[in-house]
Amino acid sequence: MANDVIIALDFPTAEETLGFLDRFTGKKPYVKIGMELFYAEGPAIVRTIKERGHSIFLDLKLHDIPNTVKKAMRVLSELSVDMTNLHAAGTRAMMEAALEGLTRPDGTRPILLAVTQLTSTSEQQMHQELLIGATMPETVAAYALNAKAAGLDGVVCSPLEAKLVKESCGEGFWTVTPGIRFADAKKDDQARIMTPEKARRYSDYIVVGRPITQAPDPVEAYERCVSQFLN
Ligand code: C5P
Repeated sequence: MANDVIIALDFPTAEETLGFLDRFTGKKPYVKIGMELFYAEGPAIVRTIKERGHSIFLDLKLHDIPNTVKKAMRVLSELSVDMTNLHAAGTRAMMEAALEGLTRPDGTRPILLAVTQLTSTSEQQMHQELLIGATMPETVAAYALNAKAAGLDGVVCSPLEAKLVKESCGEGFWTVTPGIRFADAKKDDQARIMTPEKARRYSDYIVVGRPITQAPDPVEAYERCVSQFLN
């Protein structure tokens, strides 16, 4: 069920990011910090944005041996992020270790999502390079079920796969979907896109980058996106 719009803060520096966020004087949007900004500015940028009152999805897509992921997740949970993620390809054991690391001494923890197959991976690449013989929908559904069995809260997926995930894992298992464009907009490099209104049925959160960050009036674009997604 449509819950909120998350703005992808795909900026190279803290200065540009904070300048962008300064425009939002009313509601503080939920934001996503990805590898580019995190690797450039480190944990300090997470703390700064958190202190400004935003909820944060830290999109670092962890994938390593279970013990390493567990320890890394412990660090991220101490940063007080609200949502973070990993690759389901890391196996159920890795996902379970991640959840353990993420859980704070008081029992609370950030939302943990799994990436199934990246939307940039084609079915042909999956067959020929990853040697996965199943189809893309079968793979996405199986990885989502693994994530659910490990105790995760949901997956990041294409809005076109969200229905399949809900049908496989149940309505309560979250779908967080990038690849969102306004009806009249250009696609950029996203191939499989959906409008905020259409995404509403099967996405719990939509992640929106350039349609908001590159808009002439980002605050207006954000508000339009929220009203189309939530109403
Ligand atoms: O600018 P745009 O709306 O395309 O940004 C989408 C955001 O979601 C980017 O930060 C991108 O890295 C991320 N993302 C994606 N597709 C995925 C996973 C993450 O577009 N499968």
